[in-house]
Amino acid sequence: MNATMRVRRVFSRKELKKAFAIRMRVFVREQGVPAEIELDEDDKRAIHFLAFTAGKTVGTARVVLRRASAKIGRMAVLKSYRGRGVGMKLLQKAIEAAKRKRARGIYLHAQVSVIGFYETAGFRAVGPVFEEAGIRHRKMTWTKRSPAR
Ligand SMILES: CC(C)(COP(=O)(O)OP(=O)(O)OC[C@H]1O[C@@H](n2cnc3c(N)ncnc32)[C@H](O)[C@@H]1OP(=O)(O)O)[C@@H](O)C(=O)NCCC(=O)NCCS
Repeated sequence: MNATMRVRRVFSRKELKKAFAIRMRVFVREQGVPAEIELDEDDKRAIHFLAFTAGKTVGTARVVLRRASAKIGRMAVLKSYRGRGVGMKLLQKAIEAAKRKRARGIYLHAQVSVIGFYETAGFRAVGPVFEEAGIRHRKMTWTKRSPAR
């Protein structure tokens, strides 16, 4: 993992705009998700994260609390920074945040092509494949027990 890589919770409007800009680049420009559905109501209440490499913002993720569960989503790392552990660090921070909020379950909607990425972190696919934003997804739930429990 890159020694200068950090993941931090977003606290300012300025940082939130950086997170949204990464999502626009990855989901809208790269993957063709319609811009009008990329940002949504959940963004107002989500916990957002930003990954920095050598001071540059290179990735983002969010956690949305829904009743007793936490939904992780909008995981995105800029293309040229993938494969260096940035996504995994973001995912770990998101899981930690969900646990701190005492979520009873943690789940996400994984694009089918990245199911393996989430499996590495302890998620397991449940249920059928479905389409969201024109992309095939599967629901995944976090199954790994915290070592602290
Ligand atoms: C999915 C994504 C966030 C992963 O980020 P990343 O920084 O490249 O991932 P990491 O480098 O932290 O990878 C961590 C592990 O997952 C594995 N992994 C990464 N992408 C994978 C994939 N598509 N399929 C299977 N395994 C994958 C890596 O090999 C690595 O395993 P290792 O530790 O054994 O080497 C990134 O590829 C991305 O932004 N993709 C486009 C947007 C997207 O599809 N987001 C997910 C929406 S559900």
